[in-house]
Amino acid sequence: MPLLAPPLALYVHMPWCVKKCPYCDFNSHGVRGEPPYAAYVDALLSDLDADRHDFGGALQDRPIVSVFFGGGTPSLFAPELIARFLDEARARLPFVDACEVTLETNPGTVEHGRFDGYLAAGVNRISFGIQSFDDDKLKRLGRIHSSTEAEAAVKSAQDAGIDNINLDLMYALPQQTLLGALNDVDRAVALQPTHISHYQLMLEPNTVFAAHPPPLPDDDTAWAMQEACEARLAEAGYAQYEISAYAQAGRRCAHNLNYWRFGDYLGIGAGAHGKLTDTSTGDIVRRWKTRHPNTYLEAAGKPARIGGHAAVPADELAFEYMLNALRLIEGVPLDDFAARTGLPVEQIAARLATGRQKGWLENDPRYLRTTPLGQRFLNDVIGSFLA
Ligand SMILES: C[S@@+](CC[C@H](N)C(=O)[O-])C[C@H]1O[C@@H](n2cnc3c(N)ncnc32)[C@H](O)[C@@H]1O
Ligand code: SF4
Repeated sequence: MPLLAPPLALYVHMPWCVKKCPYCDFNSHGVRGEPPYAAYVDALLSDLDADRHDFGGALQDRPIVSVFFGGGTPSLFAPELIARFLDEARARLPFVDACEVTLETNPGTVEHGRFDGYLAAGVNRISFGIQSFDDDKLKRLGRIHSSTEAEAAVKSAQDAGIDNINLDLMYALPQQTLLGALNDVDRAVALQPTHISHYQLMLEPNTVFAAHPPPLPDDDTAWAMQEACEARLAEAGYAQYEISAYAQAGRRCAHNLNYWRFGDYLGIGAGAHGKLTDTSTGDIVRRWKTRHPNTYLEAAGKPARIGGHAAVPADELAFEYMLNALRLIEGVPLDDFAARTGLPVEQIAARLATGRQKGWLENDPRYLRTTPLGQRFLNDVIGSFLA
């Protein structure tokens, strides 16, 4: 099957936070004074223009299917600046009708009235970094908000008419009990968001928590929390569709689904990653932007804004595809593997057979899907597709 151009999304990185959290390894920087928000939006637009110029034909006739403002803390940017970016981006690239536009929000950064502005700007989905509803845990995680403030922020978005809301929760927190994890899920469900992301807290290298590890629940306890929370979420109408993602019917995140299905995306902003399929050359190219906000601002729109680029080598394509697709509970049609990687399915036939023998993959000749056992040992399953 020939390589086909997949859907194209737009990721926009906003690199500042009020304060760096001790567990976080995202490209985020605690603010000192007032960051140059307006100049950053100008740099984003120059970046977009330069990417359009660089990628030229590979972007032709490909509307943007979703936009995601990620961070850092995008909600530090005033609605007027988000509106300016979206208006200008739409003038440069067509957006599909009903394009999903998500903005990540720290509940500690949103004063009254902010959400009306985001909605008017074209944002139609808000993702809140809640993490926990236990005030002691929030303190331990270095968060800048209380549980009451988090609940008020979610209600204020709902009152403004934003009807598509995700809450990020983390579990396996320092000294957390199973009951504590379930209580966080219950408080999240009580707010009736359309989507809940439920991440296991990871000790990431080069973070304060990696240098001074807090006492975390062991692997078996963490697994028990994941299973109990998954069941509680299912009872409340949130179906798991990816390792960490749960949604009400019809409310899966289009932007993340595109990543997991090995779609394409432009990455605009400091440290943002992009992936683009060039059907004319048969290459799948990854490109990322320089990480530090100051360097990025200085390089606005110039070649120096590019941190690096690399075509995905043919012998890594199958692994890269699985790294994304096998996270999806329902899996993907095997035909998609061929269309999005340009590789024949025969190339992975032996590995598929081994995965099925081990009970990691369902025995379906047309679909690629993990069994519950495969989900538990997902890293091994994905690793089996390494060159
Ligand atoms: C960019 S942040 C979301 C928005 C905003 N920055 C905030 O934290 O409120 C993305 C999410 O990743 C998750 N996350 C960050 N660091 C993590 C870690 N070390 N382990 C697990 N999840 C993590 C958190 O749930 C966080 O809300
Ligand atoms: S607010 Fe979010 S992005 Fe910023 S440091 Fe904390 S978890 Fe990371």
